[in-house]
Amino acid sequence: MMETRLIAPTDEGVADAARILQAGGLVAMPTETVYGLAGDARNDRAVARIFAAKNRPQFNPLIVHLPDLDSVARYALLTPQARALAAAFWPGPLTLVLPLRADAGLSPLVTAGHETVAVRLPAHPLARRLLQAFGGPLAAPSANPSGRVSPTRADHVMTGLAGRIEAVLDGGPCAVGVESTIVALDGLPALLRPGGVAVEAIEAVLGAPLLLPGDPARPKAPGQLASHYAPEATVRLNAENAAPGEVLVGFGPVPGALTLSARGDLVEAAANLFQLLREADALAGPAGAIAFAPIPETGLGRAINDRLRRAAAPRG
Ligand code: TXA
Ligand code: MG
Repeated sequence: MMETRLIAPTDEGVADAARILQAGGLVAMPTETVYGLAGDARNDRAVARIFAAKNRPQFNPLIVHLPDLDSVARYALLTPQARALAAAFWPGPLTLVLPLRADAGLSPLVTAGHETVAVRLPAHPLARRLLQAFGGPLAAPSANPSGRVSPTRADHVMTGLAGRIEAVLDGGPCAVGVESTIVALDGLPALLRPGGVAVEAIEAVLGAPLLLPGDPARPKAPGQLASHYAPEATVRLNAENAAPGEVLVGFGPVPGALTLSARGDLVEAAANLFQLLREADALAGPAGAIAFAPIPETGLGRAINDRLRRAAAPRG
């Protein structure tokens, strides 16, 4: 357990929080919606630690927080509809799911291996100051343990995550109190989650209705597990050895052609997971086979195994 510091909302405090983030640490930051658990979105290990701190059983993709539109354009493709919604609602409680730029350089854990990325410009002045001081993209899910309610005060974050993260930047209570509205713009505009910006206001700017969950006209929603990166090769789990022709991905004492973590570290394994799925797939070839060493079903191991079971599931 580490000691979690409560950082005061001063210039020094913001600089301090930015340094922690630059060193790959985790800081809970206030936003106008709820507190977010922030880490460097380019740093695989920092992002893996976000999932570990929340004890998330699945690698859901995370929202990337940025200070301005220019920085959004470095990571995502800004479609005309995205520019219109950005002009109307940013900074503010709206998240846009946009096509990911090929050269974005974000950790694949942030996007859960998708070709889209969720981005948001928070309006909270402290979040904006921290983003400026940090100078990069911050991945931040709500700063609560998985399955618990989202925190709207620094002491809520402390109650849930003390001992698991480096610091909480104390910005007092959050004004909006519910999470951002999420709109996907990688196809027909679709509502993924209702939130701080009213659907009617978004539809007024777009001049068209949003597709709602369950709408038959809706293309396969990103963020749905079926659209997660699936390898071409077949996948076998809990393998102690490679069968002939198989690429073995090791963990801990089980060595392989590649390894998720030679020292059996689950945070390192999670940080490597999406990259290694692609590398193993390339090594195995289109009709090939990949085998994964056993991963313990504890901590981040649950999320890793969840992802691997999906990769191993029979294909439709
Ligand atoms: O107000 C908020 O949005 C807060 C503050 C901290 O910004 N954040 C938040 O994050 O609520 P989180 O992780 O609790 O919820 C993020 C949601 C998830 O349901 C996830 O599936 C979706 O965003 N999401 C993220 N990236 C996505 C993507 N590429 N495609 C589809 N959905 C995505
Ligand atoms: Mg949440």
